[in-house]
Amino acid sequence: MSKSGQELHYPFEVKEFEPKELEEVRKRFTKAPYDDFIRVGPKGYVFYKGFLKYAPKIYNFALRPDDTFVVSFPKSGTTWVQEMVWMIANDCDYEGSVNIPLTHRYQFLEWGMLFNNKHIQEIADEYSKSDDEKKKLLAAKLKSSDVDICANKPSPRFIKSHLPLSLLPPTLLDTCKVVHVARNPRDVLVSYYYHIKTVAKLRYDIELKQLWNLFINDQLEWTPYFENVKESWTRREHPNMLFLFYEDLLKDLPSAVKRVAKFLGKTMTEDQVSRLCDHLSFENFKKKNSLVEFSAVSSDNVLVRKGKSGGWRQYFDEEMKQQATNWMEDNLRDSDFKFPFYEN
Ligand code: A3P
Repeated sequence: MSKSGQELHYPFEVKEFEPKELEEVRKRFTKAPYDDFIRVGPKGYVFYKGFLKYAPKIYNFALRPDDTFVVSFPKSGTTWVQEMVWMIANDCDYEGSVNIPLTHRYQFLEWGMLFNNKHIQEIADEYSKSDDEKKKLLAAKLKSSDVDICANKPSPRFIKSHLPLSLLPPTLLDTCKVVHVARNPRDVLVSYYYHIKTVAKLRYDIELKQLWNLFINDQLEWTPYFENVKESWTRREHPNMLFLFYEDLLKDLPSAVKRVAKFLGKTMTEDQVSRLCDHLSFENFKKKNSLVEFSAVSSDNVLVRKGKSGGWRQYFDEEMKQQATNWMEDNLRDSDFKFPFYEN
């Protein structure tokens, strides 16, 4: 419902998981699971049921021409690209970057869906009464709705989302600049595994191989992975879309910075590019904690963990390697999409 009480238009069908499937995906939660899972739209994107509270608001979100979006499948280098985009758009405001956490410079549109369930609300209630300032900060973050915060934020706004284009406002590309970053899904999965083990350790208990199976069977939040990536890929020639690969950034960061600058209509000297690349280097970026609100439950900076490509090889057994090859072939058969993996 909108503020005026009118029902917002939301054209997608929503399906609940079948009980048997639900049982399988719930296995990864040690405590109460997130509220139940649903599939949205013709591609069946998977979310927590709490997503429905935000989905129509997001789909009907009032865009402004000076909004900048960074979109991706989770764990594809989003945070890195967010920092790069924000810095370039803000004429390399190093002071702003140091003083304002990334989670305040960007709103994460579907953030609220992650915490819109009883278990997390109980934790948030408990933490908000704590004497520990870090816990209080986390409680406030868990209870916040970024899409509502964003609606009232002054321009220019910077917005992050892991939603595919089809679930974002339909006029997005004709209104705002959008940067998509994609990454080898095998590395995405390993990164995801560590993310949920650390940031979300309050709730999860799952082996990497189990998580992989949920991922390739489209039973993990935000999947199907390839549909998300291909939606942006097919619009990559649109003047308001810039499609980046994480692996390209690793290989040649200055070129990526220059591409983003050109896309955002900014000119940068070689010195400015070089200083920004130093700022964005893994070592320097690691020192910043982009998820400050989570320091109450995790001292690790999981958004900047290893920062390599091809790390999946240490984790995948023969069966997983074969599954990955088949899964990628199946999903890319009718597409001209190609990953620049740069690995042996
Ligand atoms: P790993 O977990 O494989 O190390 P997201 O921001 O979408 O959650 O993506 C997180 C991934 O981006 C992590 O991958 C993280 O290490 C990597 N990353 C973040 N900053 C980076 C940087 N400066 N250089 C290289 N990789 C970086």
